[in-house]
Amino acid sequence: MPGLPVTMNKRFLVLTHNTRTLIFRLKEFVRDCDRRKSRMTAKDYRPSFPTEMITEGAVKVLVPKLSAFVKEPSEYAPSKAPVFYNPVMEINRDITVLIVQAHQKSLGRDIDVFEPLAGCGIRGVRLATEVRGVKAVTLGDINENAYRLAAHNVQINNLNKIVVVKKKEANYLLSSHSAPRKRFDVVDIDPFGSPVPFLDSAVRALRNEGLIALTATDMASLSGVHPKACIRKYGGKPLRTEYCHELAVRLLAGCLASVAGKHDLGVNIVFSHRGEHYVRVYATIHYGARSADENQKKMGFILHCFKCFHREVVRGPLWIEQKQACSECGSTLSAAGPLWIGSISNPETCKAMEQELRTRRLRLAVKTKKMLDLIADESIGSATYFVIDNMCDALNLQVPSSRKVIEALKIEGFHVTPTHFSTRGVRTDAPASVLAKVLCRLAAEK
Ligand SMILES: C[S@@+](CC[C@H](N)C(=O)[O-])C[C@H]1O[C@@H](n2cnc3c(N)ncnc32)[C@H](O)[C@@H]1O
Ligand SMILES: [Zn+2]
Repeated sequence: MPGLPVTMNKRFLVLTHNTRTLIFRLKEFVRDCDRRKSRMTAKDYRPSFPTEMITEGAVKVLVPKLSAFVKEPSEYAPSKAPVFYNPVMEINRDITVLIVQAHQKSLGRDIDVFEPLAGCGIRGVRLATEVRGVKAVTLGDINENAYRLAAHNVQINNLNKIVVVKKKEANYLLSSHSAPRKRFDVVDIDPFGSPVPFLDSAVRALRNEGLIALTATDMASLSGVHPKACIRKYGGKPLRTEYCHELAVRLLAGCLASVAGKHDLGVNIVFSHRGEHYVRVYATIHYGARSADENQKKMGFILHCFKCFHREVVRGPLWIEQKQACSECGSTLSAAGPLWIGSISNPETCKAMEQELRTRRLRLAVKTKKMLDLIADESIGSATYFVIDNMCDALNLQVPSSRKVIEALKIEGFHVTPTHFSTRGVRTDAPASVLAKVLCRLAAEK
């Protein structure tokens, strides 16, 4: 302390040191209590509903026996069970393992992970088991059955020393970790529907350079079936275009950037992908107003012509919607946004994830590798993609193979890749008019 005599200064330092030690011990004590509580919960656990043991990645977990909860084959089993478990999300959880490991390596130190909407705990248990350098995992769920099942899964995987399970509301838990020394390196938000209600508290619970993972399953809003709900929740307008799933990722990423910006946090979208009924976005968080200002440069709008497939990217967070004519055909353009117009995956991250994939024996390795390759390739391409079938339909043409279209556009000097968003999609910087000509030519060659 400047100005204090040396002895007082020493005393002050000793006091500070003692206080820090005390706080550290208190924290350990609280964590020990939580551990003991979840161990007691797991002890002699007898689920009151049908369950089965499954293997995923390197872990064995007890999950609800989904077949016992559906009456019709068309019913969505995971939401009928007393605890949420979705086997179809295995690839999604594999990807989480790969990216968290890549992130841990990039930080070069031990990390801690927080999953406040954990369900049966399968994701957190996998992260604790399969990611080297994870020193602590905190799981939470508001549902008593989920809490007890997750605690049991921690127990049977011998993870009591590193995983704690809490039965608390997610925002409450996240907010109780907003103080500087209580934050995490990874926060994973995997809710029912939209992650937006948890965004504010999630970004506050992250350390500088922390990784946030967000799942959104409210695709009807994000893909433009319910545009009002999307504007209300995500602060951006969706469009029911052929690339609406990419727009969904961009709307979610844009919403994250706006929320983070309010806390003087910058975001870097490092990876994103779409699944059957969801989109998932991974971003690193960077402290400081300057980083937050950078977010603004990556916000904008995507204008789309529903008549000739032309699209334009408009930079800037504020754009007064006005009737704007398509430069190709003169029709009125429709706008999506404000949304994230920066890149939505980073090729370096994809490479690091592929390296991690090679060192693991995952059941879905082939599918995951294919997805990572596609995403790595398309990550350097321009925003939006074309679905060949739609354009051929509109032009009344026979549909050529994607491979032929890609080759033809490459010969014309354009950047073009397939996209993981659609098996019939091509991501290219070629204008819609050029693609239309290529399709006409290919159809004539048949
Ligand atoms: C989609 S599931 C999580 C699935 C899990 N992450 C996985 O990978 O299997 C969402 C979970 O969030 C829990 N939940 C919903 N609202 C919550 C809230 N406000 N606070 C805490 N948990 C909540 C539900 O009980 C459910 O278990
Ligand atoms: Zn047009």
